[in-house]
Amino acid sequence: MFILQEARRAVMKKILLVDDDRNVLHSFKRAFHSMHNEWQVVLSDNGKSALALIEADGSFDLVISDLRMHGLNGIDLFRKVEKTSPDTIRFFLTGATESSLLIEASSVSHRLISKPCEGEKLVALIRNSLLLREKLHNPEVRRKLCKLGVIPSLPKFYQEFCREIQTPDVSVARLGMIIEKDIGMTAKVLQLVNSAFFGFRKKVTNPLHAATLIGINGMRDIVLVAGFFNALGENDCPKTLDIEAIWQHSLSTANKAREIAAAEGLSQDDIDTSYTAGLLHDLGIIALAATNRADYEKVIELARDECIPLHLAEKRVFAVDHATVGGFILNLWGLPHAISEIVTFHCSPPGDPSAKATPLSIVYAADQLVARETQSPLEKGGETIY
Ligand SMILES: [Fe+2]
Ligand SMILES: [Fe+2]
Repeated sequence: MFILQEARRAVMKKILLVDDDRNVLHSFKRAFHSMHNEWQVVLSDNGKSALALIEADGSFDLVISDLRMHGLNGIDLFRKVEKTSPDTIRFFLTGATESSLLIEASSVSHRLISKPCEGEKLVALIRNSLLLREKLHNPEVRRKLCKLGVIPSLPKFYQEFCREIQTPDVSVARLGMIIEKDIGMTAKVLQLVNSAFFGFRKKVTNPLHAATLIGINGMRDIVLVAGFFNALGENDCPKTLDIEAIWQHSLSTANKAREIAAAEGLSQDDIDTSYTAGLLHDLGIIALAATNRADYEKVIELARDECIPLHLAEKRVFAVDHATVGGFILNLWGLPHAISEIVTFHCSPPGDPSAKATPLSIVYAADQLVARETQSPLEKGGETIY
């Protein structure tokens, strides 16, 4: 009996709840009761004791913390958690509304959740994030992806953005048009507008709309204060991976997906979802390559030598593919579920993708069409491998 209990405890997920309001702690403890067979929930009413718990036993799978607390505040706590336990998922639960504080909080957490938050909703959110993290079998990949705060931008788009934001007659529409061409900037603005920062009930899927909501001043803070946008450096990706070609492929897939979705008579929401998921569908390639450049070189070599699709080569080297990685990041960052789901399944959609025109089947078709129409840098013998 004792051995069984110990074995169960070993596979249970450990969750730490930090809030200086004891009522909040106890209401979530009650809400989490339905998961008592799967989760071990630990409570802490201040940042200092939470940090001591983490340092004594760095095996927490997820920490949810209040932002403003006496003594060690949430931001300082998460900075330390990121260092001590990089693969721990970090969520803020906050009622704060000051934009500068929330921008800073976004830079150290995976997600900002508005207070009050229904217990059931929080349980579903935690459950989903932990399940997706489980799919990252490789500990190095898990650690590095949980630490990843931004997806770097293609240098030419980053420079274009910086030029526009410095012009005296800067326009949010022009900024939006630059953002919607770039994978990293689009992912970041959608993460921000879909967080507690803006508190919209309806999820935002269109990067142009997101830019308008953030506004010019917000955009300046994002770039200059938080450093959320930055350019891809020479050493961020393997030399054998043509990064420009990935951006071109993603942008063409996004445009093609938007065109098909409109021709199929889908709603404006579904047209936006198709475009954005098309743009972000291969984001996992950039993220995975950044976790270990040398191993990603092996992926490219394997895909070329054996003429196999990139996602199969990735599974052999990293035990996970770019679709799962991309879906994991976007889900963790709180982008709309419709987008992260398409990214997760874009290599092999469940069921018959030609049966019905949905944003998933459309992105799948657009990806295939674009790959066939353009010369992929990873193509060999006429067979498209990404
Ligand atoms: Fe892909
Ligand atoms: Fe693709």
